[in-house]
Amino acid sequence: MNKLSVKNALAASAPADDVLVQGWVRTRRDSKTFSFIELNDGSCLKNLQIIVDADCPGYETVKNALTGASVSVRGALVASQGKGQSWEVHAKHFEIVGTAPDNFPLQKKGHTVEFLRDIPHLRARTNRLGAMFRVRSRLAYAVHNFFQERGFAYVHTPIVTTSDCEGAGELFRVTTLPQEALPKTPDGKIDYAQDFFARQSFLTVSGQLEAETLACALGNVYTFGPTFRAENSHTSRHASEFWMIEPEMAFCDIFGDIDMAEAFIKHLIADVLKNCPDEIAFFDKFVSKGLQERLQAVLDNPFVRVSYTEAVEILQKSGESFEFPPVWGEALQSEHERYLTEKHFRSPVAVYNYPRNAKPFYMRQNDDGKTVAAADLLVPGIGEIVGGSQREERLERLLEAMKEHGLSEEDYGWYVDLRRFGSVPHSGFGLGFERMLMFVTGEGNIRDVIPFPRTPGNAR
Ligand code: 4AD
Ligand code: MG
Repeated sequence: MNKLSVKNALAASAPADDVLVQGWVRTRRDSKTFSFIELNDGSCLKNLQIIVDADCPGYETVKNALTGASVSVRGALVASQGKGQSWEVHAKHFEIVGTAPDNFPLQKKGHTVEFLRDIPHLRARTNRLGAMFRVRSRLAYAVHNFFQERGFAYVHTPIVTTSDCEGAGELFRVTTLPQEALPKTPDGKIDYAQDFFARQSFLTVSGQLEAETLACALGNVYTFGPTFRAENSHTSRHASEFWMIEPEMAFCDIFGDIDMAEAFIKHLIADVLKNCPDEIAFFDKFVSKGLQERLQAVLDNPFVRVSYTEAVEILQKSGESFEFPPVWGEALQSEHERYLTEKHFRSPVAVYNYPRNAKPFYMRQNDDGKTVAAADLLVPGIGEIVGGSQREERLERLLEAMKEHGLSEEDYGWYVDLRRFGSVPHSGFGLGFERMLMFVTGEGNIRDVIPFPRTPGNAR
């Protein structure tokens, strides 16, 4: 007897006498002498049709096989007479493994994504979320493929850190101090010397600073792990816990960085189109019409590159009435980003050389004294999907920037050391994994691309 996934059963090249299939009942139809069951096991979008004849052992239990019940079926895999599927199973032995009463929330009718968000523990059994989590798995594999094929080392940076990479103050504190009786220093401040790590510590917002130390030893490295931001953003594109991929490359400048980001994004799209065709066709049909065509266009055309200064000029001349008028020196708002990528260029756009004041301390200062070698990649439907930069490799300049940002050499001495001992130009970027998933599937809300989304007010 040969256990087959539904995916492999449907892809069979020949009939088989004795197979075992196991999964969950999607629907059942009964006639007088036999029952049809649509079986799904999560291996693919499609169901496998099972026919249970009245004389099959276990037939007397078929009536209990309601939507959601788990079943185990032995039988023959035979060519299907019905349309829409090539193979079906004629049961020789039918068994219910676990029943599901008729209050199982996922009955046959369609459900809204909002309803499904309320049952995160069950929603992976729907076509939409099942497809998403298979794409998510494949996309993670493609991330590793891309970098491993290019000789990058996968490095693991800590989740608990004492540094604030982005300097935006969006840190979740990690502490074991008793919250009801915090120990105090003589001058009345909280005494973190008594905390678990003997100093203030936090969940990481980015593995970049630590990845830089490894790039300055191994050459090209990448991280791929969870990051955390206590950012009170209630948007469809922000999560408090998200996964980020951060490559870091020694002897690489900002333009090499942008080229790598473009090649990476294209690799990920091409991989998913090739390896998840049914899922992408599903998202195209039910979630975001025209998705495949749009993804193909992204693959077929070079990404636009434009400096921040040029971008602001384009925005100012656009004639659009923005909520925030574009002004040189200020951060691009998401309405600006969306205009550039969706209306003006209609293409992914890398915007580079941002004003220094709005950016973190580690970015390399340009010769104009006003901008830093930062680059954001903007894509239609999402806005910012990648943020990166060339890092300041010059000791004096870095110390200056740290002073401006109020960072002490005592805390960041280890980071400064990289500029003391064999400093090299180096660059990297961060790709938000969930935003990339939204881009390849056309799903509009970050809550629907991760199994258990964490957002302000929700950590169920
Ligand atoms: O632009 P960010 O903040 O850049 C960094 O953290 C750098 N240290 C990366 C680097 O150079 N190594 O974040 C990078 C990307 C964003 O472009 C976005 O795709 C994603 O991470 N991101 C989020 N995704 C979901 N929810 C959030 N709250 C996110 N914040 C950032
Ligand atoms: Mg950013």
